[in-house]
Amino acid sequence: MYLALLSGKNIEMAKEEIFSISSGFKETKLDGRVVVFDSRKAPDFSLLGLTHEAGTFLGKNIEEVDFTVFLSQNIQISVLNLDSEQNSLLFSKKIGEFISKKGLKVDFKSRDILRVYLTKGCAYFTKPVFVQDKKEFAKRASPKRKFFMPTSIDSMVARALVNIAGAKKGVTVLDPFCGSGGLLLEAAAVGVEVFGCDIEEKCVKGTIGNLEQFGYLVTAVTSDAMNVKKVFKNKFDCVVADLPFGKSSKILKDKQKLYKEFLYYVPELVKKNGRVVIGCDEEKLDYPKKEFILENKFSIYIHKSMTRHFFVFKAMS
Ligand SMILES: C[S@@+](CC[C@H](N)C(=O)[O-])C[C@H]1O[C@@H](n2cnc3c(N)ncnc32)[C@H](O)[C@@H]1O
Repeated sequence: MYLALLSGKNIEMAKEEIFSISSGFKETKLDGRVVVFDSRKAPDFSLLGLTHEAGTFLGKNIEEVDFTVFLSQNIQISVLNLDSEQNSLLFSKKIGEFISKKGLKVDFKSRDILRVYLTKGCAYFTKPVFVQDKKEFAKRASPKRKFFMPTSIDSMVARALVNIAGAKKGVTVLDPFCGSGGLLLEAAAVGVEVFGCDIEEKCVKGTIGNLEQFGYLVTAVTSDAMNVKKVFKNKFDCVVADLPFGKSSKILKDKQKLYKEFLYYVPELVKKNGRVVIGCDEEKLDYPKKEFILENKFSIYIHKSMTRHFFVFKAMS
């Protein structure tokens, strides 16, 4: 069994992201940001955007912990207090005493770490297998790119969206509203072949430049998203897009009309069983019910006047 410490941005989205890269994900417990789950094979946690830490789950009580999983006799105790009224230092001390009684040694320099998450009513003991490298994501964050767009979504959320869409090595992804290429950048980082289009030429050039800046290739064209089929003849394994939003956009004369037209057009772009992940500022979308199943919907609070809604569709034909 595994335990993941999820980002607090959207717990459901973070869980869905783990599900999308695991085989046979089965949640056994969700406690705030802590999820304990089963998976037939160990997920590659390094692919995830919204998981901060992960480990092998060892139990909820120190007595349950199998210390043979550690390589040495020297154990470092690391406690993260998430929401508990317990004093972390006193808790660590008690764990240390238990460990010593077992004939093991508490060693703050040891690489054998017993990581404990304290929630309101529970303790979760793990052997860590993954700690997210936030600096890697920060390197690709919007302000760090040569071509900057303020509307580009946070790179960890972008990673989660492309994972949920089914991005993995060998698949093709299209973002028909690519802007500065934020979603495509995260898709390329997981080894996907990426394609983009934007109605604004400067965005297309910006996307190409931004992907190049991080060593990735993208095929991107200037086109209305509603004409992109004429440019790219083949269907894609998945489509991800953050649709234009807000009232100020010059392009956006009729947002509702654009959203609807696009949703009725996008089935022509994606292969059967492929996913289409759409971000927008509408809580409800009109979509073709025969062609699509709405599998999921997540909302992320951005700031006081903005919440972004993300819809996950599966193409039936
Ligand atoms: C929210 S931004 C996308 C941001 C992008 N995900 C990023 O990381 O920078 C929406 C983009 O849609 C483009 N756009 C608006 N109408 C369009 C249309 N009809 N066809 C294609 N692109 C369009 C805009 O130029 C803008 O770059």
